[in-house]
Amino acid sequence: MCGIIGYTGYSEARGILLKGLKTLEYRGYDSAGIAVYHPDFNENLVTKCEGRVEKLMEKTSDVKGVCGIGHTRWATHGGVCDANSHPHKFGAVTLVHNGIIENYAAITNQLGIASKLRSQTDSEVVAALIDYYYDGDPRKAIISAVKELSGTFGLAIMFDDIPNEIFAVRNVSPIICCQNEDGVYIASDIMAIGEYSEDYFVLPEFSVAHITKDSIDIVDFNGNEIKPDMLKLDWDIKNSGKKGYPFYMEKEIMEQPEVITKTIETRIKDGKPDFTEEKVDDSIFTECDNITVIACGTAMHAGLIGKHLIEKTCGVPVTVNMASEYMYNEPIINDKTLVICVSQSGETIDTLEALKYARRRGARSLSIVNVKGSTIARESENVIYTNAGPEIAVASTKAYTTQVSVFYLITAKMAYLRGKINEEECAHFCSQLLQVPSAVSNVLERRTDIHKLSKGILTAEHTFMIGRGLDYPSLLEASLKLKEISYIHSEAFASGELKHGTIALITDATPVIALLTQEKLMSKQVSNIREVQSRGAQVITFIRSSLVSKDVNCSFELPDLDDDFMAIPSVVAMQLLAYYVSSDKGLDVDKPRNLAKVVTVE
Ligand code: M6R
Repeated sequence: MCGIIGYTGYSEARGILLKGLKTLEYRGYDSAGIAVYHPDFNENLVTKCEGRVEKLMEKTSDVKGVCGIGHTRWATHGGVCDANSHPHKFGAVTLVHNGIIENYAAITNQLGIASKLRSQTDSEVVAALIDYYYDGDPRKAIISAVKELSGTFGLAIMFDDIPNEIFAVRNVSPIICCQNEDGVYIASDIMAIGEYSEDYFVLPEFSVAHITKDSIDIVDFNGNEIKPDMLKLDWDIKNSGKKGYPFYMEKEIMEQPEVITKTIETRIKDGKPDFTEEKVDDSIFTECDNITVIACGTAMHAGLIGKHLIEKTCGVPVTVNMASEYMYNEPIINDKTLVICVSQSGETIDTLEALKYARRRGARSLSIVNVKGSTIARESENVIYTNAGPEIAVASTKAYTTQVSVFYLITAKMAYLRGKINEEECAHFCSQLLQVPSAVSNVLERRTDIHKLSKGILTAEHTFMIGRGLDYPSLLEASLKLKEISYIHSEAFASGELKHGTIALITDATPVIALLTQEKLMSKQVSNIREVQSRGAQVITFIRSSLVSKDVNCSFELPDLDDDFMAIPSVVAMQLLAYYVSSDKGLDVDKPRNLAKVVTVE
């Protein structure tokens, strides 16, 4: 969480910093700030404020200078206010920080600086610690300070007496660097600086980058020079605006047929999934006897669909774990365990730490990641990238459906290699999967019908979503979408479980959304719908077209695919439902309150 940026070069820094911060706002939008070196004053001048980058733009209109750092904040330590915004300045040191310093209180006591601090943040204490060690040698001061920190950090640092130069160091939290003839750029995310060069690198952990307008020198903590691994950007950043949609979320929902196709089509060869390009060895699918999926939020819901598919088709037991709980639950791991991590950003710290934990204990690993070269991708033995392209809206949509698409590919691959399905069955499975994009297009074409249905929950305080079998994990995802962007309390329930307590909450004021896509569960689900209707609930039903019957009223007909392939089109319908509720309520759909797109705190 939090976005950081830095630039030094031949152009005015302000515009570059603010533009980058605007892109990074999805990492946090509680406050924003920049510090730019001002030659007339011989110091780095800080301007910062609570609120969005737009507000900062107004406040910085007269800022001049060719070197600066900037920050957009998701509050951890200290409330949302001007003083707690970054950059923080202490003595000669000005810095921006992404991450959390766990021992900041102890450092404050050790330095005796409590009365001198102007904020309640852990980050200001880091500035004070570097300043404490600073005697004219910036690298030495940074290394001495960083050795005392426990926690995670990406830091961009400037010193008043070293004009127009930036230093950077990190542990866990990412820092990306690139360079062109106009200067050097650093940021938390390549999206913020990718327009300046398609060649970039991730700063190695525990090394210090010294950045001037023409150079980047990196040394490790022993003073050895480091040559970072260069990466090539393969996302079309210039093409990543809203494309005429009012919100990124709507644009990203609409992109799904295309990005699902991109994720599956090139990986199906002769009727079989093929991961040779990713260099994923077949042994990863054949040698495991248990699978552990580790992920958070939406990505974890993709894992629940994966569990259903793999257990049913391959007969391999799968557990799905919330990454934040995983290592505290004494998980059973052995060399027959395959860990599958799922992450859009590839930076979610809970998932990353759980992956490292499992690998230390001998598990093999495969990650399903969207952001190329991200930390989880790099820490994993094998990676299959989702080809969703940049996902900017905080609410994840196209990342989810492409993650689920990869689970279909993994399922077919594993089942075929293990002899659970023959060549013909594998080809049939893949041909069903290839029909998913057009089923999604079909839902999208009829989105105005979903918009009309969304009015039925617009003013609700609570909603319930009920379904059985594969529909239940789909509704967990649907419910999360509705909660996070519309602020309506929503609970997904396996329909048969309602009567064991929760049905007490069903009244005429709790609209119920019912999903019916699983043929063998149809009659039971119809009975469950009757049960909530009897308690006064208005029920909005989403039914697979071939299952529509006179037994239950159908509000929206979903396209017809085999049971196991309904998970994607049904969730797309639910994404639209949540989207319309949020936008009709006049909310900031892309930046819901209290959230950030990339969660880099535990
Ligand atoms: O980047 P990740 O996929 O690892 O993020 C995990 C969750 O934070 C994320 O899926 C979150 O639940 C979504 N933004 C919700 O829409």
